[in-house]
Parts: sequence; C-alpha cells; structure tokens
Amino acid sequence: MTINSNHLPEQANIRHPITVGEALQNWAKQIDRLEARWMLQSVLAVDAAFLVAHADRELSPDEAARYRQMLARRAAGEPVAYLTGERGFYDLILKVTPDVLIPRPETELLVETALSSIAPDRCSRVLDLGTGSGAIAITIAKHRPLAQVTAIDLSSRALAVARANAQAQAVDNVTFVQGDWYANLVAGEKFDVIVANPPYIAEGDPHLAQGDLRFEPNLALVAKHNGWDCIRQIITHAEAYLHRDGWLLLEHGYDQASACRELLEKSGFVSIFSRTDLAGIERVSGGQCGSFSTAECL
Ligand SMILES: C[S@@+](CC[C@H](N)C(=O)[O-])C[C@H]1O[C@@H](n2cnc3c(N)ncnc32)[C@H](O)[C@@H]1O
Repeated sequence: MTINSNHLPEQANIRHPITVGEALQNWAKQIDRLEARWMLQSVLAVDAAFLVAHADRELSPDEAARYRQMLARRAAGEPVAYLTGERGFYDLILKVTPDVLIPRPETELLVETALSSIAPDRCSRVLDLGTGSGAIAITIAKHRPLAQVTAIDLSSRALAVARANAQAQAVDNVTFVQGDWYANLVAGEKFDVIVANPPYIAEGDPHLAQGDLRFEPNLALVAKHNGWDCIRQIITHAEAYLHRDGWLLLEHGYDQASACRELLEKSGFVSIFSRTDLAGIERVSGGQCGSFSTAECL
C-alpha cells in the first residue's frame, strides 16, 4: 500500500495532548484502520481491547512522536510487521525483523497439511528447510509436542529470530541448524516429514518491486533458474533424508504446482497431490517417499 504522507500531521501541527481516539481517527486517515490500531497497540504496549476501552487515554509526547514516525514509515511503504516487530501466524504471535520473511497466511495451509501427516502420539522427526522466523517449525513443534523438529536456514540472522521465537513460545523440541538445505545434517539422518517454503520467485520478477517484497530479504524470496533452483534442490535430494512412506511437503508459487508434481514423480515420489489455498490457488504440493524405493529410502 502506498499512502500520501502529506496527509500525516506535521510535527509543528501536533497539538498535545492527543487521545487514543484522536490518534486513530485524525492521524491515521490514510492508513488501513487495522494497521493503525496494530501500530498504536505496539507503541503503547497494549492489546486491542485496551484501545477500545480507553479512547480518552492521552498519549505522552514521546508516544505521540513514535506513533507519528511509524505512520510516516508505513506511508513510505514499510511493512507494518517490521514496524511493530510482530506478526500473527496460525495461533501464535511471532517476532519478525527485516532479516526474515514476514510469515504469510498461505503458509498456514502447509502447516495444516504437515500436522495432518504427523500423528500426535508418535515421536515423529520433522525437518523444516528454510525456517526464516521459525513460523512453520515452531507451530508444528507446539502442536506436536512429541515430535522432534530440525529447522535449517542459511541465514544466521534469520536463525537468531527463529531461536528467539522458540524461546518466547516455550518450545523446546526444535533444533536449529545453519546450513545450505541438507548440507549440514548428520549423515544418515532420516525424517518422517520434510516441510519447506523455499524461495521461488524468479530474478527480475516485477512483484519484487511491489509491496512488502521490496523490504524483505532477497535470500528469502528469489531463486535462480527462473525461480526453480531451491525447489529442485529440495525435491531431488529429499529421498535420501526420508523414511520409507515419509512425506515431502512444499509451498510454491501460484503457477508452479503442475511442474512441482512432475518433479516429485520423476524423483520417485508417490501419492502426489496439490492443495489449494482460500483463493483457490494450488499452493502446496507433496508426495510420499515411494515404498518401491531403494535402500536409500529405508
Ligand atoms: C520463503 S522464506 C520462508 C521462511 C519461513 N519458512 C516462512 O514460511 O515464513 C525462505 C527461507 O529460506 C532460506 N534459504 C534460502 N536459501 C537457503 C539455502 N540455500 N539453504 C537454507 N535456507 C535457505 C531463507 O533465508 C529464508 O529464511
């Protein structure tokens, strides 16, 4: 969203004190109402109910200045999640910084699919490739406390955010590993489920110059070979790290489902499927390590 910052109050025009109600109604006219609320909640360190119940609460000059600065940065296009430092995902509130992708609602479909393939009463082993904020790994770990989750990312800065999120959620069944996809796994390590939301946007794709994507790390978004490099690496090497009948589940771009299914089939996977998101777009594809496979899969 691009907003004309001329509509925001100039510092010189600010009348003190200003109330919560005025801050939302008069200052944030050009900002999405919900986003303005999130930003004011963040500045005041209060919840949504507080804003409703305390519309007459006066902002201190410091709070007013910080809120105004947030509005101005939002007006300049910065993602609201980076301004407030958090984003809701599934049933969690996660810390986010510009070092990580902002978790997307579409990715909840991948989590739902993974949860349905992990029995709650078994000590399943789960691998999350490209964990970023830890959104997928931590949500799975929270909902499947008996599972042991390994979460990998190439970015040490992303892993620092993911570790902080795991700690904040009191999750102790996730192990974080820095590495290039499977490269730093212990030899012979096998998993029941591999999940991944890898970078899948082609270099030079015009979407990269729009919206939140302008501010998110390139490493989280862009893949070589027209957006296919990471998906291809993950699919073609997965079998060596999966138990027999283990699942590989991937999120991909809006137009990549059919080619993903083909790649899964060529790599020996069976029971291949795709699932659509709420917009009816095929967003998640997966397959099962074929029972006909060689000893590598046993
Ligand atoms: C699309 S983001 C997904 C983040 C998170 N899983 C989510 O769904 O919100 C992709 C992640 O893959 C990581 N990544 C990119 N290349 C990688 C590589 N070669 N090995 C491991 N992780 C990589 C990025 O740092 C980024 O955190």
